[in-house]
Formats: sequence, C-alpha cells, structure tokens
Amino acid sequence: MSFNTPIDRRNTASVKWDLMEKLFQVSPDDGLAMWTADSDYPTAPCVLEALQKAVNHGVFGYGFESPAYLDAIAWWMKARHGWEIETDWILTTQGLGNAIALCLDVWSAPGDAAAIFTPVYHEFALKVQKAGRVVTECPLKREGDTYVLDLEDAQSRLTGKEKLLIWCSPQNPSGRIWTADELRAVAAFARKNSMLLICDEIHHDLVFAGNSFVAMAVAAPDEMDNTVYLTSASKTFNIAGQRTGNMIIADEKLRADMRSRLNSLDYKPSVLGVTMIAAAYSPEGAIWADAQMAHLQTNRDIFDAGINAIPGVWSMPLQATYLGWVDFSGTGMSHEEVATRIRDVAKIAVSAGPTFGTGGETFMRFNLATQTAVIEDAVSRMQKAFSDLQ
Ligand SMILES: Cc1ncc(COP(=O)(O)O)c(C=O)c1O
Repeated sequence: MSFNTPIDRRNTASVKWDLMEKLFQVSPDDGLAMWTADSDYPTAPCVLEALQKAVNHGVFGYGFESPAYLDAIAWWMKARHGWEIETDWILTTQGLGNAIALCLDVWSAPGDAAAIFTPVYHEFALKVQKAGRVVTECPLKREGDTYVLDLEDAQSRLTGKEKLLIWCSPQNPSGRIWTADELRAVAAFARKNSMLLICDEIHHDLVFAGNSFVAMAVAAPDEMDNTVYLTSASKTFNIAGQRTGNMIIADEKLRADMRSRLNSLDYKPSVLGVTMIAAAYSPEGAIWADAQMAHLQTNRDIFDAGINAIPGVWSMPLQATYLGWVDFSGTGMSHEEVATRIRDVAKIAVSAGPTFGTGGETFMRFNLATQTAVIEDAVSRMQKAFSDLQ
C-alpha cells in the first residue's frame, strides 16, 4: 500500500472521521477531514508485520518496557537526532497529551501557572486549565514569513506564579524549527524564572528536506537537570491510537518524582504499543519515515501553490510537521465568515486558528497527511469557496 492508496477510515472508531460530523457539522460522506493530527495512510510495513506477529501469537497478557523497546528508543534518538540517552531515563505514558497532564500534576499545584508560546498546540492551554492551573501566554512575534521569539515581551508577561514552561519544538502550528541559539535562550529563560522546561518534540521526525531539527538536549545539554523531554513515535508512524508516548528525564530527582506518580497511578505500558514502537524505531522504520517526508513534501507544495493562488490567503512555509497554517487576514473577512465558507461550501473540517491562542485569530490549520488526490480536491474546494475573491 502506498501513501496514495485511497483508504476509507469511516466506522473505524476514528476521532478524525467518525466524530467530524458531530464536532464540525461536516459529513464524512462528502466532506474532508483535515483537522486532528493523524495521517490517512497506514503505518510502516515493519510496524504492521510486528503487530501481525503479535496477533498471530494470540496471547495479550501483561507487558513491560522490554529491553528491545527501550533500546529501540535510544537507538532512534542517537541515529536520527544525535542525542545519546540512557535507557533508564525513559518513562512510558499514554501519549504526550497524557504526559503533559502528568507533568502539571507532579510539578505544579492548583493556582500555579504555566507559560506557553502562542500560537501553539491548543491542548497545551486546555491541559493547563483542566488541571486548575493558569495559562500565561507569551505570544511569538511574526517576522517575515515565520515566527520568532520575543523573550523581553515574554518576561514582561510572567506573573511569578509559573512553575512550568511548556515548549513545542518543532512548533505546532507553523512548522517552525527552532535554532540551537533559540533553544538555548528558551532553556535559559525557563531556568532564570524558576520554571521547569517541558519540551515537547513529538513532531521532530517530520522535517522537510533542506531543514534540520536540533533536539533541545543537544542544543542545551547543561539544562538537562531542568528539562523533561517528551517524544513519541505516534505522529511519525501514525500510531497515536495505541496511546504510548515517552518522557525522557536525565535528572534523577525529577525522574524519581515522576516514576513515583506513575507507580501510584498504576501506569503500565500497552503491550501492543511497546511492540509497535520497538519495530518502528528501526532502520526499516527510518527508510519509511524518509519516504513519508517525500510524500508530505509533494502535498505541502501542491497545497501551498493552490492556497496562495487565492487572493488574500497565505500558507506559512512549513519547515516541519504536516500541519498547514493558513492566514486569511488578507481577505478582510471575519473568522466566522472564513469558518462558515470552509465548513459549508468547501465541506472541510479544519482546526480553528483562534484555539491555538494569541496570534492564531486569522488562521486555520489544515492536516496534509493524506493522499495527494485529497490535497488536490481540498485545494479545488477552497478555490471554489473563495472564488469571489479571484
Ligand atoms: C505538540 C503536540 N503534543 C502532543 C500531541 C498529542 O500527542 P498524543 O497523541 O501522544 O497524546 C500533539 C498532537 O497533535 C501535538 O501536536
């Protein structure tokens, strides 16, 4: 099966397709699901083979973080990101949304605050709020065709109650890859303000040719005692539904605090998740991940060309991630008008920019991890929905 083989995801308990009518009023019968961040094609053959072997074995008893699983994670971080980790730094959670919630739980108290740099993955703010903590938004600054840090402005927004800084690298949305200098500056900013740095690198493998991702731990190794790194194979290999993500914690005290919380909550890894990750983080998995990026690059280029042809609409050039970040401010339309046209005329379910916080007001986020024919269809629907601007 290739990245372009059509696949019907309806009636598979898929959040993206089976909940889109309820959440977005776009029918999966004639609409396109371009919102939540998973992909519309199957995972790597090496992952499927490992899973099939497990299914054929037929026994699904208790599992643990096997040496094969831990070694595969360590291998991937070294081979793909030049980051040497020890396997006992790895803790397993039910995905990174869950990991962020656990960090808030362990390292802050109700009424404390957490800083985030917006626009950013909307769940950062939601997790903070649901935990009874307060969000401190530090807006990124638009410069040229991307975002940059404004740490002076960020400093002025801190209230002194921030215990955590939740950082996204590469940035979702916008696909910005942070430079080593920027990463060092963020880590120093966290330390200076007594915030524990939670560094979410879930999109670190989804990097387009011509760009290179720098892991926070590689850029700022001296900050390892004040940083919790979050990584996962879920976006790279489209296995988010198996609910397995990692916290990588070098500092013994921080790790002991989190391990104790995981033990008290009786966290156990999913045996199928462990099996899939051990298979994904492999040389075969790496070849598949590279092929996926070539496919995504085709999609990104077609999407950008088609969207940028609509007067007043502009797709931010992505360095990483498969999440197109589109600015409608040049149309002069309100967010509601843009949202209505995309929903009712184009019949596409997309993620609304304002949910990503300050800076997202005039944007919409489009998931491009699908068949190229779907991207072409989406572009044509968008051009028709905004044809009066032509
Ligand atoms: C930056 C970021 N962190 C975390 C998540 C959620 O990860 P998980 O599915 O492992 O909970 C996402 C999903 O889109 C994301 O973009």
